[in-house]
Amino acid sequence: MRMYDIIKKKRDGFELSEEEIRFVVQGYTRGEIPDYQMAAFLMAVYFRGMNERETYDLTIAMLDSGDRLDLSSLSGIKLDKHSSGGVGDKISFVVLPIAACFGIKIAKMSGRGLGHTGGTIDKLESIPGMKTSLDKEQFLKVVEEVGFSIVSQTENLVPADKKIYALRDATATVENLSLIASSIVSKKLAAGADAIVFDVKVGSGAFMKDLDQARKLSSLMLDIVKRNGKKAKAVISNMDQPLGKMVGNALEVLEAIECLKGQGPRDVMELSYTLVKEMLDLAGVKVSFDDIEEKVRSGEPLKRFKKFVEMHGGDPFIVDEPTKLPISRDVVEVRAQREGYVAKIDAERIGNACVLLGGGRSKKEDTIDHSVGIELLKKVSDRVMVNDVIAKVYYSKKSDLESALKIVESAYVFSEQAVEPLPIVLEVIE
Ligand code: URA
Repeated sequence: MRMYDIIKKKRDGFELSEEEIRFVVQGYTRGEIPDYQMAAFLMAVYFRGMNERETYDLTIAMLDSGDRLDLSSLSGIKLDKHSSGGVGDKISFVVLPIAACFGIKIAKMSGRGLGHTGGTIDKLESIPGMKTSLDKEQFLKVVEEVGFSIVSQTENLVPADKKIYALRDATATVENLSLIASSIVSKKLAAGADAIVFDVKVGSGAFMKDLDQARKLSSLMLDIVKRNGKKAKAVISNMDQPLGKMVGNALEVLEAIECLKGQGPRDVMELSYTLVKEMLDLAGVKVSFDDIEEKVRSGEPLKRFKKFVEMHGGDPFIVDEPTKLPISRDVVEVRAQREGYVAKIDAERIGNACVLLGGGRSKKEDTIDHSVGIELLKKVSDRVMVNDVIAKVYYSKKSDLESALKIVESAYVFSEQAVEPLPIVLEVIE
């Protein structure tokens, strides 16, 4: 078999066999296929697509490139949750402690920020002392005792995806349904849960820009998981504006703590409750929003989050005293130039402004500044008067402040007519 022939076959729109797909994934992971050939292959897939069978074979070939986590020593039903990536997405910090209160176990492996989207691991590392890589025994011990834990993906968890994703990121080949589905699902299958809920984001701040694409991605992913004998559901949620009010690492942890106290923004609470409900449903536990709310009011999810932080070496007092979080004290206000209603907040621009401030990475090797970010005081449908503060920018270096402020200002679109609030949960796909 020759890589050249496989690239040509896909370029000309033909279906690849399982052996050919395996040859590509194995060869590239082992370093036998060079980046330039793999880049050409990915571009051919980007334009020609893959059918369901090819996507399935690609996922399994990627899954087979590394280790699988064995969760059989944990008691109870093991669930997992995955977001396809958005701006202001701190949902895991809210969903996992609540879901764990109902008796399920969640051993979650998460990634770092990509492009304009933030990463769960970067956010967690804003907690002073917090370790995000634990050895397997310690990780499972936290899950058994607290009900959940979140660690960074281990080196050998789908190494094929690590290499392929980095190349996709550099060659403009991320936004392809088969490539996204195989990347996400191979990692979730390797992480060993019995059932998975996908939070598929759609809108200006997501990889999926329209509902039809989000539906297609959802059914592709559900199909692959089910063929592997596991249960799954997808919740399609709106990313036409950032989720919640806070964007930035420590700021998002702060907002998640507020949510666990029952005081979070409406969209974060609604999406979190929906995801908890669907996860529990897959575990055979039926709960209503009222049951979930009561659990939050009891304070138990917050206690679990505190214990999780403590067991990971982090400072648990950030929960009682959020000023212990490293949030910059240098803040600039952004004010409305006109009167009207907020019609749109471009999530991708807000994500980019956060990256520019140092809250994300422009290059893989960049270090993150956890203290910076953006607070959105006005969201879509809010009425504003001239000179009202619509957002606050938390910065630490003056050099990029002006450009970040311009991006935040340009992300807001106003209308003279009243605007309906955006729905957050668009669909649940079984
Ligand atoms: N998240 C992933 O893990 N992979 C993708 O391809 C896109 C989002």
